[in-house]
Amino acid sequence: MAKKQVILGAQFPGVNNFTVWSDPAAGSQIAFSSFRHFAETVERGKFDFIFLAEGLRLREQKGRLHELDVAGRPNTLAVLTALAAVTQHVGLVGTLTTTFNEPYPLARQLATLDLLSGGRAGWNFVTSPGAFTGANFRRGDHLPHAQRYERAREFVEAARQIWRGGDFAVLSRHFDIAGRSGLGPLPQGAPVLVQAGESDAGRELAASHADVIYSRHSELEAGRAFYADVKGRLARYGRRPDALKILPGANFALGDTEAEARDKAAQIRLQQVSPRSAITFLEQVWNRDLSAYDAEGPLPAIDPDVEADALSQGRAMRYDDRLATARKWREIAERDGLSIRQLVIRVTGRKQFTGTPQAVALEIERHVQEDAADGFVLAPHLTPGGFDEFVAKVVPVLQDRGVFRRDYAASTLRGHLWAA
Ligand SMILES: Cc1cc2nc3c(=O)[nH]c(=O)nc-3n(C[C@H](O)[C@H](O)[C@H](O)COP(=O)(O)O)c2cc1C
Repeated sequence: MAKKQVILGAQFPGVNNFTVWSDPAAGSQIAFSSFRHFAETVERGKFDFIFLAEGLRLREQKGRLHELDVAGRPNTLAVLTALAAVTQHVGLVGTLTTTFNEPYPLARQLATLDLLSGGRAGWNFVTSPGAFTGANFRRGDHLPHAQRYERAREFVEAARQIWRGGDFAVLSRHFDIAGRSGLGPLPQGAPVLVQAGESDAGRELAASHADVIYSRHSELEAGRAFYADVKGRLARYGRRPDALKILPGANFALGDTEAEARDKAAQIRLQQVSPRSAITFLEQVWNRDLSAYDAEGPLPAIDPDVEADALSQGRAMRYDDRLATARKWREIAERDGLSIRQLVIRVTGRKQFTGTPQAVALEIERHVQEDAADGFVLAPHLTPGGFDEFVAKVVPVLQDRGVFRRDYAASTLRGHLWAA
């Protein structure tokens, strides 16, 4: 049987806890030259798409802004449209919320991206987790989880109608719109739809409406369970398992030898979790000012404050049960003799493919052939050069193994995803 082809997306390292700014090789997260370098590199590597995450409000901790957020993230659609002009093949996927946008203007902007890029637009529709973000918008409030998903479903269905062109009319719980869309026909019919959100409601929405899921389940076993669960939901909507591609997020660390790669991976984690950011992470769980603690020392004996208002606002990571989390973290730290910083490095890390280029390529391939994923949305720790080495050394191994394209066979993102 022919081998499954690996799909590769490239997340631009912007305001993320895995992005390292302290490294001398780190460049601007907002200059167009950074986006351009990044896009040109992954296009040279024949990646399927570039991916931008979304954060709509500067995050705060103890009432202060995170310093890296101040420059923030430039507007996603503007960045992707500019990149469309300097690339020819690579897909352009932006994360944009259904909670605070409106269907017609957003569908129109995405359609414009699809037109200008010749069919390379993708939309990662998210529901945005925090009420804090909502305050940035005129509505000034936030919807409960179930209603956010209800709105997301209605939003995506409305967008699909709008993309079909001609008359559209949507009367649903969240929308009452009617008009005539002058946009069609689009190069891809509709931009590629990506979903990120892992609750039952999120998985169901993906199974019914999405082309791709961006997931957190990047370890082999967890990935296989997630993959089987979501693919198993498709038949209910009359869809084949291959109609929805599953792409977990992951990082990577390369070395000329296994030992060098392991050392590199450890160094990256130390850069990602400075003493100060270790305390910041801990404060998010403890919900207390822990600035007097030594990051290289033991965890606080004091329990989290579950009564006070949240100290940290606008973070994607949530800890629903602070006491249980603190208990679990203390157990790990005591068992393995870890300092605060070492513990935070351990518990906040996500999948990091570590090894020689050969080994990393084989591991990525294994995840795909064993149905833990259809590919990955990879994120380097450096901008803008974080993919230089990967493209030069790992991509050729994947190509030699016959699991990754040597050249683009299609001109649209849909064409890349279903080329095999
Ligand atoms: C892998 C992943 C990536 C996400 N990326 C973003 C993002 O960039 N911006 C955002 O506002 N929300 C993001 N979300 C949050 C989702 O939109 C959603 O609001 C949240 O996960 C709660 O839904 P759930 O319970 O279905 O997971 C992401 C979620 C996941 C699982």
